Amino acid sequence: MDPPGLYDIIAYYRDMRTCVIYASKYGTTRECAERIADELGADSFDVRHARDIDLNAYDLVVLGSACYGGMVMPRMRRFVAAHLDELLSHQAALFLTGVFTGVKRDLEMNVAYPPSLRAHAIAYEFFGGRIDIDQISRLDRLALRGWGVTGDINSLDSRTIKLFLEKIKNSRQKPNY
Ligand SMILES: Cc1cc2nc3c(=O)[nH]c(=O)nc-3n(C[C@H](O)[C@H](O)[C@H](O)COP(=O)(O)O)c2cc1C
Repeated sequence: MDPPGLYDIIAYYRDMRTCVIYASKYGTTRECAERIADELGADSFDVRHARDIDLNAYDLVVLGSACYGGMVMPRMRRFVAAHLDELLSHQAALFLTGVFTGVKRDLEMNVAYPPSLRAHAIAYEFFGGRIDIDQISRLDRLALRGWGVTGDINSLDSRTIKLFLEKIKNSRQKPNY
């Protein structure tokens, strides 16, 4: 068989079917997911509408969730629990958004997704997060005030998002010629 030409390789990556599934309360994680989907030419879905997605229609599944109370959002946790075997039989990449830093962020990354999925993932990054104090609910404002947060925060790190995308692009399985 002839070795693949440049056009074969480009066609392969264009045809690599990817979906990005996200859990977001105030839109920051959705924006990250949509940027990633744009860059990868992928479909993106809110996890609330992902129950009936046929994951077998995709080669790579990217999951992203905001963190609340030190964990991924419950709807992402439920999705992962329900689809763990399928996720482990696909290429997968994971990301989180949140404003924790240092040890708290590391702990959060350790509990957010099951160990088997983390070990399996071709990329896993914490993007930082965003809080627009005027946009969140009164209850959330009160909770944040309890933790000493009274103003806006924007720690989203576009370099980390770029790194995540590069890791995905570099490790997507090559065609089996
Ligand atoms: C009430 C509340 C609780 C939060 N708890 C955490 C947390 O436990 N860990 C963390 O890293 N960030 C926490 N955050 C920050 C959010 O994860 C961050 O703002 C994220 O970007 C929000 O994403 P979203 O806009 O997609 O919902 C919290 C924010 C709010 C408003």
